Amino acid sequence: MKTVSVCGLGYLEIGVSSLAAWRDYAEKVLGAEVLDATDALYVRYDAQVWRLRLVETGEDDICVAGFECANIEDLAAVRRQLKALDVAVTEAAPADAAARQATHLLRCQDPFGLSVELYVGERLAVEPYVSPVGVGGFVTGDQGLGHMVLAVGNEAQAYAFYMEGLGFRLSDDIYMGPPGRQIRLTFLHCNPRHHTIALAPVPSRKRLNHIMLQLRSMDDVGLGLDRARAAGVEISSSLGRHSNDHMFSFYMQTPSGFDIEYGHGGIEIDDTTWTPQTHHAPSLWGHKGRLN
Ligand SMILES: [Fe+2]
Repeated sequence: MKTVSVCGLGYLEIGVSSLAAWRDYAEKVLGAEVLDATDALYVRYDAQVWRLRLVETGEDDICVAGFECANIEDLAAVRRQLKALDVAVTEAAPADAAARQATHLLRCQDPFGLSVELYVGERLAVEPYVSPVGVGGFVTGDQGLGHMVLAVGNEAQAYAFYMEGLGFRLSDDIYMGPPGRQIRLTFLHCNPRHHTIALAPVPSRKRLNHIMLQLRSMDDVGLGLDRARAAGVEISSSLGRHSNDHMFSFYMQTPSGFDIEYGHGGIEIDDTTWTPQTHHAPSLWGHKGRLN
């Protein structure tokens, strides 16, 4: 039987040390709208109500990843796929689903303890998104919020959960690092975005390595770099172009220590013609810093 996939990464919940630092960073550097609530900050950068929910837990790491399913039939199919892997899936109370602006919400955990939510719902806001610093727009829609790179303890368990359970498909892989100490990063997609998740089999205290936000224009990447420098944000990796998704991007540190990749021009995958390849360097040029 054909594996059914989630259709996008819809939202993330991140535990942070300082909501105040994140408010400044999200508005003035990322160019997102920040909505205050008593319990959290909500970060918005497209037509959806919010994409990032920030809670002050001190973890400085991702706590919840919300994956959209196209409809209730797909949600049920993904649930069955997870059940076949002995993953416990519970149905959230209607009030919890409503808090995510979802019509249906299921919850489970990935093999490494990350809370994973599966939902149906468009989550569209009434008001249009307006960047406080004039960013022209982010590439989202049917490609979801962007991509994220997760450190995973066990590749086989990760592949089973994300590929057999959630239906992700292999985009390609990259061998990185010096000879004898190379690691393989695996890139997975569930919609036209080249990768929505990359899995890094490296020991790490934190689950999240980075989140990528994709800008519609190349100039908006440069303007973001200018804003980051003006705000004293550490640039973790210089401008460069990735070997696999051809993303033109730089990496900057967030107030939580992990990075945000701010990019433009990533290629899209058509599953009818795509053939996964292996790359032996992360970038065609640039990205000097942590990556190279
Ligand atoms: Fe990335």
